Order: sequence, then structure tokens, then C-alpha cells
Amino acid sequence: MTETAPATATMTPSTRDGSHHVLVVTDVTAGYGPVPIIHNVDLRAESARLVALIRPNGAGKSTLLKTIMGILVPRNGSIMLDDTPVHGLRPDQIVRAGIGYVPQVGDVFDHLTVAENLSVGGIIAKKSREAKREEVLTLFPVLAPRLKQRARTLSGGERRILAVARALMGSPKLVIMDEPSAGLSPRAMNLVWEHLEILRNDGLALLVVEQKAKAIMAIADWVYVLVDGRNALESSGETMLANVHDLGRIFMGQQLTLNTERVVPEGE
Ligand SMILES: Nc1ncnc2c1ncn2[C@@H]1O[C@H](COP(=O)(O)OP(=O)(O)OP(=O)(O)O)[C@@H](O)[C@H]1O
Ligand SMILES: [Mg+2]
Repeated sequence: MTETAPATATMTPSTRDGSHHVLVVTDVTAGYGPVPIIHNVDLRAESARLVALIRPNGAGKSTLLKTIMGILVPRNGSIMLDDTPVHGLRPDQIVRAGIGYVPQVGDVFDHLTVAENLSVGGIIAKKSREAKREEVLTLFPVLAPRLKQRARTLSGGERRILAVARALMGSPKLVIMDEPSAGLSPRAMNLVWEHLEILRNDGLALLVVEQKAKAIMAIADWVYVLVDGRNALESSGETMLANVHDLGRIFMGQQLTLNTERVVPEGE
């Protein structure tokens, strides 16, 4: 998958400024039954970059994340984490290999405190849990005064931040998030975005599925659009945002070009 306008290409096969490909998904087909939901999907995530996967509903975004996490086994294609194949591994093995997952539901344990949630996330920590917790609290100071608070009493934004912090306790190379802003007020959403940017600046690779397309385009380095389980479009967040008025038609299959971007017709 390539981008034809060099001026807008912020992610390339050979990376710039020290970032590197952490996740490379190639030609992946997967689904729940005999009929695949995602077809021959390609996707890349880089260190210190935020990659977003946006609308439309039912396109197969969550299915792709579940396939990356080993919840579904791909029928063909490869999923490489730092040049090591992870397709075919169990979800717990994939977490240990270095992918943190923040699902849309069930992201934290409601009845446990903030400290206990972090502790559960640290079961696979490569350094001592205490040291890792200090590191995570330094990144996300909003959690520090709330360690003894039960997760169910947190605000929506604080809860999502705890979910991300919990994923970080395993020292992942890549964090995958399914709709981090779901159900949040604009203020809470901003709090979550700010924390994603902190993680990116800290060198982590981020892959985020998001319904709030414009908001995520504004901060994403690279954006993918899947339509009917296939790669339909990809570009820098900036370019996608500048062409946002065309996206509705692309989602409906009415238009297959977006200025300088390469568009993959169905079936290719
Ligand atoms: N467990 C399942 N068993 C069978 N089909 C499923 C299952 N989960 C999802 N699907 C189907 O797979 C298709 C893609 O679903 P998926 O959840 O991946 O979409 P999505 O892009 O995440 O959508 P949304 O933006 O609404 O979350 C849908 O048609 C859905 O009905
Ligand atoms: Mg989904």
C-alpha cells in the first residue's frame, strides 16, 4: 500500500527520524464462520506514530483488532510484531509478545481499585510491578491521587485512561484501542486524546479504532479506511481531514478516489 504524494507521506516502508515498523499486517483474511469478514487487509503501525482506523460501522475494524490480538485466527496472511510472526499465537502470548489491548467493553475491573487494576495489568510486567506503576503514574498523573478509588467511581475519561495505563503495565511496544472515546463527553475525550499524544511522544506505536473521525484525523499520523472488510483508502491524517467532505461518498462506495491518495478497488 503506498501513498503517491510524497509531501503528505509521514509513514513510509523505510522509516524516518528513528521510528520503525512495529506491526506489519499483510494480506490478512479472517472472520467468525465460513464467510470472511475482513479480506486481504494490509496495515502498518510504527513506533512514535498514531495510526487510526475509522468508519464506517460494520466494516470489520473490531474484527481486525481481534485478529491481531489472536482472538480470531487469520485464514491467510501474516501479522508480524517487530519482524516476528504472531499470527496463530494465543491472546495471552500476543500480550506477552508486546501488544497491549484496550477493548471497547470490559476495559477495567469495576469493583477493583485503580491500584488493583494496575497491579492486574502488571502480572506480565518485565520489571517490578512497583517500578512499572511509578513509571505509568508519572505518565498519567491524573491517576495518582485516585489509587484507592474503585474503578466504577472514576469519570468516563479517567476510566479510559486507567484502561490504557493498565495495558501499559505490561510494557507493550504497541497499544491497540477500540474506540477510546466511546460514550465520553467532549472534555473527557480531550483528556484521552492528550494521553494518547503523550504515549506517542514517548515512542509507543498506537493503533486506534475511532468513530470520532475528524477528531482522530486531527491527531493521527496515518489513517486507514476499511470498507466491507477491505482496504479502501489510506493517507496522512492531515490529508484525510482536508478531504473529509469526500469520505461519506467513499463509505457508500460512490467514489473511489480521494485526490492524491491511492484507492484500492474492491476485489484487488
Ligand atoms: N462474533 C461474531 N460472530 C459473527 N459475526 C460477527 C461477530 N462479531 C462481528 N460480526 C460481524 O462482522 C461484521 C464486522 O463487525 P465489526 O465488529 O468488526 O465491525 P466494526 O467495523 O468494528 O463496526 P463498528 O464501527 O460498528 O464497531 C459485522 O457484520 C458483524 O455483524
Ligand atoms: Mg467495532
